[in-house]
Amino acid sequence: MPGQKPKFYLTTPIYYTNGLPHIGHTYTTVVADVIRRYKRMHGYEVVMTTGTDEHGVNVERAAKNAGVPESEFVAKMAAAWRSLWDELGVPADEFIRTTDLRHVRTVQWLFKLCRENGYVYKGHYTGQYCIYDNAFVNDAKPGDNCPDCGRPTETVTEENYFFKLSAFQKPLLDFYKKNPEFIQPESRKNEIVTFVEGGLKDLSITRTTIRWGIPVPGEEPHVFYVWFDALTAYLSAVDGPEYEKRGMWPADLHLVGKDIIRFHTVYWPAFLMAAMLPLPKQVWAHGWFLMDASKMSKSKGNVVLPRPIANMLGMDALRYFLLREVVFGQDGNFSYDALVTRYNSDLANGLGNLASRTAAMIDKNFGGKIPKAGKLRAQDETLARETQSAIGDILEHFAKMEFARGLESIWAVVSAADRYLTKEQPWALGDSEADTQRKATILSTTAELLRIVTALAHPVLPESTAKIWMLLGQPGSVSAVELDGLRWGQLASGVQLGKAQTLFPRVEKSEAIERIESMANEELNPTAPIPAPVTTPTSGSAAAAAPSASEKIGIEDFAKVEMRVGQIKTAERIVGADKLLKLTVDIGTEIRQICAGIAQFYEPDSLIGRKVAVVTNLAPRKLRGVESNGMIIAASVGPEGRPVLAGFPEDAEVGARLK
Ligand code: MSP
Repeated sequence: MPGQKPKFYLTTPIYYTNGLPHIGHTYTTVVADVIRRYKRMHGYEVVMTTGTDEHGVNVERAAKNAGVPESEFVAKMAAAWRSLWDELGVPADEFIRTTDLRHVRTVQWLFKLCRENGYVYKGHYTGQYCIYDNAFVNDAKPGDNCPDCGRPTETVTEENYFFKLSAFQKPLLDFYKKNPEFIQPESRKNEIVTFVEGGLKDLSITRTTIRWGIPVPGEEPHVFYVWFDALTAYLSAVDGPEYEKRGMWPADLHLVGKDIIRFHTVYWPAFLMAAMLPLPKQVWAHGWFLMDASKMSKSKGNVVLPRPIANMLGMDALRYFLLREVVFGQDGNFSYDALVTRYNSDLANGLGNLASRTAAMIDKNFGGKIPKAGKLRAQDETLARETQSAIGDILEHFAKMEFARGLESIWAVVSAADRYLTKEQPWALGDSEADTQRKATILSTTAELLRIVTALAHPVLPESTAKIWMLLGQPGSVSAVELDGLRWGQLASGVQLGKAQTLFPRVEKSEAIERIESMANEELNPTAPIPAPVTTPTSGSAAAAAPSASEKIGIEDFAKVEMRVGQIKTAERIVGADKLLKLTVDIGTEIRQICAGIAQFYEPDSLIGRKVAVVTNLAPRKLRGVESNGMIIAASVGPEGRPVLAGFPEDAEVGARLK
């Protein structure tokens, strides 16, 4: 239809619900959000899908451990994923859960099409099976033990439905040839082509040994096996069988981590070919964010969480770091040190400082109204020309997913503005007419450069660029700027600057890192010491992760908490941590060091000799860099959560257990 916007449909993987998001998952979702924002600023109607992958043995197990039905378990987890994306400013346009009815219908429909077209048959699957966990162990050989429980596996044969993947070797290779952009980056394409050229085995796509899955209609107890179920979510999210009406399918871009590229570039197009449905246009596999050179996992204790970073430095800082630090497609190391360094240098001292000082000078010299440029000198024209030509280069980098280079080029423009100001020294000019004219030219040139940089950086830094846009008093919203029409010379002059904004306050590195780590600690171990001592007041992170107050626990759960009578031996303040006291506490069998968030309400000396209730079997952790080995119990009183230490009106022996 004339005048209609072109469509762009992109997806992130749907994430497993047996864990919560860390920085690796955040990376994929943030990149998707950045692309979504760029595409919108290029005039596209965009839909971004993310969601949760909720079936399979792992969820069955996790729900059993939590003592709740699977449906309840996944509902809670899906809500947590969804609300975290909302909180981080990367909300889904479509959030698909594999337990959604619309998804169940789509999977069953896709299976029916594949079957009607002759690509599905009944056969037998033989594999190593763990009878204790009731699950096949992928890639295990006879004699191998179960990786989960360590007990021997048995060779078991079960009836399955198979997908004739072998029939798609040639069609897939032809497809890759005709669509050279389908697999990105190029290096991954070679890996996949070699794999397919090596021959494809048929794929078992149903199981009778798993209960928690989508039933194969009329073939119960068969349920669909993970990947046939999961990949179909991309189609379910845009109306599955009614995809033509919605007009979003095929996907223009599937963003995935390198770990799951084969499923997306071999299985998925084969399923769609078998069903005679349109194929996605591109699959882009990015690398991993590693921690100390190894993959993050909760059991290794090396996961980096997004929320504490967003609370401390702002979500824009995290987005900037993820895209700027690593070449998209390659692995990169995550380090708090590098994160805070980039924040201070590029955001606080770079863009933030340029915006604040430009606004301050316009405020001082022109009553807060953006001045009109006077006669241009060669250096003004050079800066204008260079900025204009950078626009095209920057947009091209982003179109090619070269985010790091795109940002580098934007920041080269910021540095050019800094150099220009240093050279032209508008602050050293007087009040004569000529000087005022010159100041007007310099400041309007800088403001125009800043406007362009703000629009170009908006998809990566949505919050702070919206603030700079308002600060510059520019009309409309920065997200409505059409990037294709962005040119030097469109600055609205004569307009009043908006209110001064805090953009990126500089932070002291070691303190910022300690605060982030301490918030992460609390989020990972939600039984925080009283009362959430070192998080920022707005974070609410510990509360969000804690079970709801109305939830009941059994006596056996309570018995897991060991509480004893302790006596405080020493108490001192911790430099740089206003709310924390470092205590040593006698718990009968030993003297423990414990940190407590009570410094604002208790004088250290007043605590010495006092008997308190102590949780003694908490795993030790560091608070603001100080080890804390236990927790002191206190009531949290009043709206500000004033701690009141629990005590013993009658004498209680040190070390006695509380029951
Ligand atoms: N549920 C499947 C995907 C099904 S898609 C039809 C799955 N889920 S996952 O939760 O394990 O992870 C999915 C994605 O998270 C990875 O492909 C990757 O995009 C991202 N990452 C997880 N850890 C990561 C890093 N450490 N670094 C970067 N991305 C990583 O696989």
